[in-house]
Amino acid sequence: MTAHDPSSHSLQLTSSGQLKHFLTLDGLERALLTDILDTADSFIEVGERTIKKVPLLRGKTVVNLFFESSTRTRSTFELAAKRLSADVLNLDISTSATSKGESLSDTLLNLEAMASDMFVVRHSQSGAPHFIAESVTPGVAIINAGDGRHAHPTQAMLDMLTIRQHKGGFEGLKVAIVGDILHSRVARSQIRALNALGAEEVRVIAPGTLLPRDVESLGCTVEYDMIRGMRDLDVVIMLRLQKERMEGALLPSEREFYRLYGLSQDKLALARPDCLVMHPGPINRGVEIESAVADGPQSVILNQVTNGIAVRMAVMSMAMSGQVSERTQAVGEQG
Ligand code: NCD
Repeated sequence: MTAHDPSSHSLQLTSSGQLKHFLTLDGLERALLTDILDTADSFIEVGERTIKKVPLLRGKTVVNLFFESSTRTRSTFELAAKRLSADVLNLDISTSATSKGESLSDTLLNLEAMASDMFVVRHSQSGAPHFIAESVTPGVAIINAGDGRHAHPTQAMLDMLTIRQHKGGFEGLKVAIVGDILHSRVARSQIRALNALGAEEVRVIAPGTLLPRDVESLGCTVEYDMIRGMRDLDVVIMLRLQKERMEGALLPSEREFYRLYGLSQDKLALARPDCLVMHPGPINRGVEIESAVADGPQSVILNQVTNGIAVRMAVMSMAMSGQVSERTQAVGEQG
């Protein structure tokens, strides 16, 4: 799948430009991304109430389909759906019928037969949520919760919400993403979001072995030396080494990686004094980030997790209303 995928555009938007699936940030305009952030902002308050619920998805069934393990993403999607008053089904694929030889398409047909309204999909294959969105019954929304190396759009949007809360906006910001860019769907979605929202510079800092070929074409500058790369930064986003996706030796050793690319207090001191420290999790202390930095005053890592619920509520409610308005229009046209 190419970095910019025009076929996703019509697939995930209604004819009037509303979201109906959320598969990728490719092709989404700044106005729509801002709308997601503003809607998420309005849901933050719901999480602070004694009764943390709004009725937007009441009577709807959301199925969490995680073909790859996850803690944060799965649980925040579940909480988001529950706070929107949906009925939620969590399917553990490792113990489900797919492990008895049933194909993905057959599993989906069965779930559709149970009148599901939304599938939240995580898959190790890039393009799996897109494939499902192409074949699903009209009216059912598909939300990408991370596919292969391709995209993790809700993660990027919760990161954008966290940056906007702390920096007020994106204009003039210099943001670096550090570490295993090669295997990271998060980095790809973040680069796209930051460019669309008008950040001044998106910089990737990594050894050549952890960068995709032609990385600049994603919309970033490249720095191999972290000491130079930390200069002038407003935000530094650290990534985990995705060893489960690595084939062969891409690194000399974890110790060497930490020495060169780990975020220590010394390296952080080279950035702007108010530089935010971010990480999508799970963090590996002493591998890509020093404990004192992860737990330090510049870290917003746990704010990112909290914001994940509000952003997922926003995307789920927007996609569901896009599906409803498209269905209403289709019925109107038939009549
Ligand atoms: C990331 C993912 O799964 O892509 N984590 C997450 O969603 N919070 C990054 C990772 O696994 O390192």
